[in-house]
Amino acid sequence: MEEKIYDVPSEWTHRAYLDEAGYRAKYEASIKDPEAFWAEEAKRIHWFKAPTRIKNTNFGPETVSIRWFEDGVTNVAYNCIDRHLHTRGDQVAIIWEGDDPSESKKITYRELAAEVNRMANIMRNRGVEKGDRVTIYMPMIPEAAYAMLACARLGAIHSVVFGGFSPDSLASRIQDAKSAFIITADEGLRGGRKVPLKVNVDAALERVGAGVVDHVLVVRRTGSSVNMLPGRDVYYDEAAAQVSDECPYEEMNAEDPLFILYTSGSTGTPKGVLHTTGGYLVHAAMTHQYVFDYHDGDIYWCTADVGWVTGHSYILYGPLANGATTLMFEGVPTYPSISRFWEVIDKHGVNIFYTAPTAIRSLMQAGEEPVKKTSRKSLRLLGSVGEPINPEAWEWYHRVVGDSRCPIVDTWWQTETGGILIAPLPGATKLKPGSATKPFFGVQPQVVDAEGKVLEGAAEGNLVIADSWPGQMRTVYGDHERFVQTYFSTYPGKYFTGDGCRRDQDGYYWITGRVDDVINVSGHRMGTAEVESALVAHPKVSEAAVVGYPHDIKGQGIYAYVTLMAGEQPSEELRKELVAWVRKEIGPIASPDLIQFAPGLPKTRSGKIMRRILRKIAEDEFGSLGDTSTLADPGVVDDLITNRQNKR
Ligand code: WT7
Repeated sequence: MEEKIYDVPSEWTHRAYLDEAGYRAKYEASIKDPEAFWAEEAKRIHWFKAPTRIKNTNFGPETVSIRWFEDGVTNVAYNCIDRHLHTRGDQVAIIWEGDDPSESKKITYRELAAEVNRMANIMRNRGVEKGDRVTIYMPMIPEAAYAMLACARLGAIHSVVFGGFSPDSLASRIQDAKSAFIITADEGLRGGRKVPLKVNVDAALERVGAGVVDHVLVVRRTGSSVNMLPGRDVYYDEAAAQVSDECPYEEMNAEDPLFILYTSGSTGTPKGVLHTTGGYLVHAAMTHQYVFDYHDGDIYWCTADVGWVTGHSYILYGPLANGATTLMFEGVPTYPSISRFWEVIDKHGVNIFYTAPTAIRSLMQAGEEPVKKTSRKSLRLLGSVGEPINPEAWEWYHRVVGDSRCPIVDTWWQTETGGILIAPLPGATKLKPGSATKPFFGVQPQVVDAEGKVLEGAAEGNLVIADSWPGQMRTVYGDHERFVQTYFSTYPGKYFTGDGCRRDQDGYYWITGRVDDVINVSGHRMGTAEVESALVAHPKVSEAAVVGYPHDIKGQGIYAYVTLMAGEQPSEELRKELVAWVRKEIGPIASPDLIQFAPGLPKTRSGKIMRRILRKIAEDEFGSLGDTSTLADPGVVDDLITNRQNKR
């Protein structure tokens, strides 16, 4: 197949920080002498004590330890706010666009400072100290940003839990982090619908039990009346009226934790990915500058939710560290109309727009007219993140949204990587639709085969990273052994990403998707094991196996094979009940798209479920099931094929 290549538009070779030669030189410098390179780059943030020990990292096999800038002292909130006050105090830091288009507001850096300080004082007065964990379960309102930055100011470790997660999911995250302070809102508002956040917190805390959570701070968003437990629950506006808008920051070591963010893996419960202070901020700020070619005065919009890492690094920390104006959107792309994204771009003059392929694919369905009726002339650069972007969606994004004028940066990274690792630089990199292109500075991707042999040149295999970068996660919170096992045991001495990948003859990387039991549903990561354990918790379910299958909008859909308890009969009603059950157990993002009732699952004689076969059936590839002779009962496969569920 003929590969399409988009050259760097000529105006970009002039305006961007780096052209192709510039990228190459800087990349080579970053690999040749990482110490010197990162010592220089560390200067992009303010240090109370500048680091002299730059890189101290070890990928094993004996021990895995990752330390960057380890004797440096800084504070993330200071860098994102205070540092800018004398130069850009009156510049807008956050543009907030509400769910309802009539609601929006602008928060300057000076206002941000006062709000964050008030939030920090409220927490401090209730005993929050450096190292304490604070759980944030919030809608996309400015107070979510204040809460995160207030934690950073005090040196408390935030754990943001996406507002779409269920009370159960929230409870297990509160318990794992041993978090005594919760920040939430009465309700969220998305697409005109209310999300019962405080009700969910109450249910979660019932599960957590007494003696763990001391304080729940409740921001009024919709104003609906919610249950307030005296002594534990307090309204934010009432508490804020009592405190000063000045609050000292904590001096933090570069390796002090900044946040925990739970993410799904192939086994077990979600892991608490731990990120620290100095390296994370340097990486987030630097990638935000170069990949988005961010310049002073740009209006920048990342459509993610702060409940995901993209929201942490590219709504909040990266942009604010760079003194940017960052847009925060409460709503959804289709409300009140399917033109909402483009209307917001025109309303606020957005220059840089960063979203997920699933959003593009769903908006594509409505055709070009809802886009074309808006101007979008402010747009200069488009970004994509979260899953592989199929070339059709890429072309549509480029031609229709960007009027064939705006480069697209397809950014590959993970919760674990803290920031972008593979992406084009708009002034330097020719684009190939569907490829995340080239590694960022300091990043050494390798393609390995199943045995770990490093493949050279054009090759396909698994993606590993050969050496550390500053934004890398440091450990799994409370379980370093799990960190080592998950990321450094498959290919000893290397960080294993869990992704498959192809490198072409030009050295471009094409991420082909997860090679483990993680699926990517609308850019959200889901462990198949989590959905399985939710299903088997249902009294009528005896066994369940969950796999991904190709889905036109979501990228991957959730396909569940379910074996019922003896005596239970499959029915449409039970199917619906199970979908509702999983939503309740985990959250709407985990709802199975297809449930197939299966009298038996394909197992080896030792009782192991052969997921390879289930995946093939879900993918409609009956012809390539491979060897089924090792199955205990090969007959189950015929039944599975006959009853395959069909719906894209
Ligand atoms: C997984 C990480 C990165 C922040 C949002 C998701 C997939 C992410 C891309 C991309 C192809 C991508 C990978 C990765 N992924 N970006 N540009 N092209 N795949 O973070 O929830 O930690 O998920 O998302 O499979 O491993 P996450």
